[in-house]
Amino acid sequence: MIYLNGKFMPIHEAFVPVLDRGFIFGDGVYEVIPAYSRKLFRLNEHLNRLQHSLDGIRLKNPHSNEEWRHLLEQVIDCNDSDDQYIYLHITRGVAKRDHAFPVNVTPTVFIMSNPLLPPPATLLGSGVSAITAIDNRWIRCDVKAISLLPNVLLRQLAIDAHAVETILIRDGFLTEGAASNIFVVKNNVLLAPPKSNLMLPGITYDVILELAATHQIPHEVRQISETETRNADEVLLTSSTKEILPITTLDGKLVGNGKPGATFSRLYALYQNFKNTRMRSSS
Ligand code: PDD
Repeated sequence: MIYLNGKFMPIHEAFVPVLDRGFIFGDGVYEVIPAYSRKLFRLNEHLNRLQHSLDGIRLKNPHSNEEWRHLLEQVIDCNDSDDQYIYLHITRGVAKRDHAFPVNVTPTVFIMSNPLLPPPATLLGSGVSAITAIDNRWIRCDVKAISLLPNVLLRQLAIDAHAVETILIRDGFLTEGAASNIFVVKNNVLLAPPKSNLMLPGITYDVILELAATHQIPHEVRQISETETRNADEVLLTSSTKEILPITTLDGKLVGNGKPGATFSRLYALYQNFKNTRMRSSS
């Protein structure tokens, strides 16, 4: 069951006109929000980022945060899994094709849900492979725009190389993954690239840095060079759907000793604990 423009319906009954600006221009923004045991995780943070993305494309938020919560909870209620990830998508609406913003057009609002299956234990035990590529995206990567063609092309490079993610390098520095944030560990210090217009401010990224701060894990938020990335002891990937994953091979070479490292294990355990505690108390 999905939500589209005021109505709940089975996904096969949901259609959007071809003149929707999402279809024509990729003119819209989105969010991906995990729900564990049917409770939305970090909802306020996701809604704040949604507002930032809407401001970035100059589109008025069609709903208050309370309305969003209600809609999202209804979508969760009418889907089967206890753990779901909610995809929320807003476009500038349906209008005659013209680059200029249309006047008096209602945005299209679409919400769907899929079962949330965290990475299996085998993957966590072995780690995953990644490749690197030049970050050739636009310079508003802080906006979670639905126009994801560069990310799609970059991520496909990883798939073609039988890897899980493409790590992006811009002007000699690590930005993020094609669909994730990236951390590196060197000499037991967790390093995170600073938030800027060149990366998406990940909600999971924030949780990881909060956990590092709370649990006295040495960490620095600063620019990370390509060389540092390649010589890291550990490389970690984070996202709302993959949570935290160790990258143990980069461009075909082992990262550190090629096994998930101590910082990963620590952060993974802390993340699971944090998530479970939060879900037991309230959303
Ligand atoms: N993507 N950077 C990019 C480019 C992303 O697409 C994502 C997540 C992240 C991680 O952000 P968060 O921790 O808030 O999920 C970073 C989602 C999951 C997606 O597009 O499906």
